[in-house]
Amino acid sequence: MSGNVRDPNMQRITNRELANAFIEEQIKEIKAQVGDKKVLLALSGGVDSSVCAALLIKAIGNNLTCVHVNHGLLRKGEPEQVIKVFKEQMGANLIYVDAVDEFLDALAGVEDPEQKRKIIGKIFIDVFKREAQKLNGISFLGQGTIYPDILESKGLKAHHNVGGLPAELGFELVEPVKLLYKDEVRQVGEALGLPRNMVYRQPFPGPGLGVRCVGAITRDRLEAVRESDAILREEFANAGLDQKVWQYFTIVPPVKSTGIKDGQRTFEWPVVIRAINSVDAVTATIEEIPYALLNKIRDRILNEVKGVNRVLYDLSNKPCATIEWE
Ligand code: XMP
Repeated sequence: MSGNVRDPNMQRITNRELANAFIEEQIKEIKAQVGDKKVLLALSGGVDSSVCAALLIKAIGNNLTCVHVNHGLLRKGEPEQVIKVFKEQMGANLIYVDAVDEFLDALAGVEDPEQKRKIIGKIFIDVFKREAQKLNGISFLGQGTIYPDILESKGLKAHHNVGGLPAELGFELVEPVKLLYKDEVRQVGEALGLPRNMVYRQPFPGPGLGVRCVGAITRDRLEAVRESDAILREEFANAGLDQKVWQYFTIVPPVKSTGIKDGQRTFEWPVVIRAINSVDAVTATIEEIPYALLNKIRDRILNEVKGVNRVLYDLSNKPCATIEWE
């Protein structure tokens, strides 16, 4: 796919047949662009980079090297799913980098949300560059840029934290889905056989759980975010709400309150549940979760998550509140 402007006559990919035709065409285009040279791709496990990786694997197989950086701010089970789907099922050449300590050490004590984002972005680039320099003979950088990224930010995927990488590393870009809208990327992902929960996953911020562990991130509070988020996702899926609600997650603010457990006084954090509907994230309204489900989620969180003695439900729409807490 050449050029960064979508032909207004380009047919919208709305079904499996059109998705298959797109895949065939892209395989040819990627082969023509890359030949027998090597491509490197930062694979976050999000929809866009996953679809990009699956297309590249089909086109060039082991000439693609994927790097999955675990920054410690991913949701429960995400790194495992990336390894299972891409390495075990698709046979990809995947380098898994456990950079959890490096990220969490750099973030220790940092309270300001923008500073947190900057640190996450910078360390990501450092880690990715270090991995790239270990490899020989890479000529191209794969990127899951999609059309809204081009329209909004001139093509650099800031929230994947790889902005600036192509220029610094001197690689040419391969961006097979850069002219597609999100719904089309999902069609293509399904046609490529990616799991539904990967293809239809809710929006997830680049800084991950880092912006939901409000204020200075600590490992224990981050685990409380990750575990409570996993419970919320499981219960939403059981109730069929994962198909309906646009974005849902938990937040753990750095505030403690008193509680009582087994006759003993506790002094622990609250977990806040947030579930919102939106079209474009510019405005959002809360989902009215049935009380019975809220009660079930509360019981599970209070029983299963360490360091937590209260569960709250965020009733705020956007505006006044933003979707994330920071
Ligand atoms: P807010 O909190 O501004 O969020 O109402 C709007 C949407 O953007 C997501 N979000 C981010 N996505 N990097 C991202 O890639 C970020 O730093 C970031 N901050 C917020 C948020 O999850 C919501 O979907």
